[in-house]
Amino acid sequence: MAETEAMTATLSQRGSYWITTFGCQMNKADSERMAGILEVMGYHAAPAELEADLVLYNTCTIRDNAEQKVYSYLGRQAQRKRLNPHLTLVVAGCVAQQEGESLLRRVPELDLVMGPQHANRLDVLLAQVEQGQQVVATGEHHILEDITTARRDSSVCGWVNVIYGCNERCTYCVVPAVRGQEQSRLPEAIKLEMEGLAARGFKEITLLGQNIDAYGRDLPGITPEGRRAHTLTDLLHHVHDVAGIARIRFATSHPRYFTERLIDACADLPKLCEHFHVPFQSGDDAVLKAMARGYTVDRYRRIVERIRERMPDAAISADVIVAFPGESDAQYRRTLDLIEELGFDAVNTAAYSPRPNTPAATWPDQLPEAVKVERLRELNALVERKAKERSARYAGRTEQILVEGRNPKDPAQVMGRTRTNRLTFCAGERADGTALQPGDLVNVRIEQVRAFSLGGKLA
Ligand code: SAH
Ligand code: SF4
Ligand code: F3S
Repeated sequence: MAETEAMTATLSQRGSYWITTFGCQMNKADSERMAGILEVMGYHAAPAELEADLVLYNTCTIRDNAEQKVYSYLGRQAQRKRLNPHLTLVVAGCVAQQEGESLLRRVPELDLVMGPQHANRLDVLLAQVEQGQQVVATGEHHILEDITTARRDSSVCGWVNVIYGCNERCTYCVVPAVRGQEQSRLPEAIKLEMEGLAARGFKEITLLGQNIDAYGRDLPGITPEGRRAHTLTDLLHHVHDVAGIARIRFATSHPRYFTERLIDACADLPKLCEHFHVPFQSGDDAVLKAMARGYTVDRYRRIVERIRERMPDAAISADVIVAFPGESDAQYRRTLDLIEELGFDAVNTAAYSPRPNTPAATWPDQLPEAVKVERLRELNALVERKAKERSARYAGRTEQILVEGRNPKDPAQVMGRTRTNRLTFCAGERADGTALQPGDLVNVRIEQVRAFSLGGKLA
């Protein structure tokens, strides 16, 4: 008996862990699941990175600067490991998948290199490490359901993966190479996860996929009308009524597959928030073609018009790349013109960065660094100006805010988001002195408008 207890104690006390996450929401969701696995294994969160017994970097390689950041972090940990051989060093995510074995050659101190498809297998892989092996797990892998153990950063807003991977072949993009083939989860599993989150008090769910409009195309079944049995629109209808969930979002949309049916569903289903993240990448048809995006600027424009027809106040955000190989000044200006014309609430901007094993990286007409810097600077200024214009419409309005927590810069305030996804701050107490809690839905009268955030008073 005493022996069993002692064994349980050693099993459940494995020291402390630290996870640093780079990159997109997909990586953040994977990190939460990996943290959950570590805690089930008996690890506890470390107070600081340099004190942790296990350090895991969940990495991103979408652009070269994201990848380089990881190497500088790793250098520091490799040095620590030379002093403390018990330190466990793990590189997960997209750089791990891209570099595989060669990461071990570059940083021999590493214990485990694991691609994103292996996130749910962290315990199995660490068991191999504990037997003294250096492990590389980057094979194509069918992702098994794992919905119970995630250790979530928020207790209000949860991410739920609906489709992994990407089957598109945009000529600049590493994602298909590092995230693999599309794998849709079954609607029942997605709904079950949402019900579990609702039972724990979560109020908002963001459904995630790199190309979420592809949801269901790898699942079997045809409807009597001859349609695919599983689409994102059907999924939204299927999960809409989970009790306790007040808001549903999804990202990322692809203009090639975005349908009117989907827009109608968002307009008709009350929990679906009026925010759409639809990257357009370029405002020039020839550049879009070279990117292999599969749509024209006109098609994109019609999507935005249709959204605004059905939901006049909807927020629309996007991603854009400037200085793609061969992009002329006139072509670049068309991107600016489109932003000026459509007026986005937010745009993630990037200068093109050549990525390993992507077609565009080998093209001869790469643009000089100076052009990239200058285009990006001008673009960002425009994006901010348009965001400010879009924020102005909130002045004096009353908006529903879902409180996520305290404002880290001013603990007297809470912060949350509008349904349209604008970050909003307001005083953390009601008139009667009771404190607002994460998860509260409150009405806020907007008094301050800034490009990317709002401020106001409880109404
Ligand atoms: N699946 C999404 C985007 C995924 S990557 C989509 O299809 O739009 C996130 C963003 O990073 C992209 O939208 C793009 O704007 C940017 N990006 C991707 N590859 C890039 C590269 N090689 N250089 C610069 N930006 C890139
Ligand atoms: Fe990359 Fe294109 Fe897939 Fe988006 S749709 S992840 S940009 S390949
Ligand atoms: Fe980066 Fe991988 Fe996401 S490359 S953007 S973390 S899919």
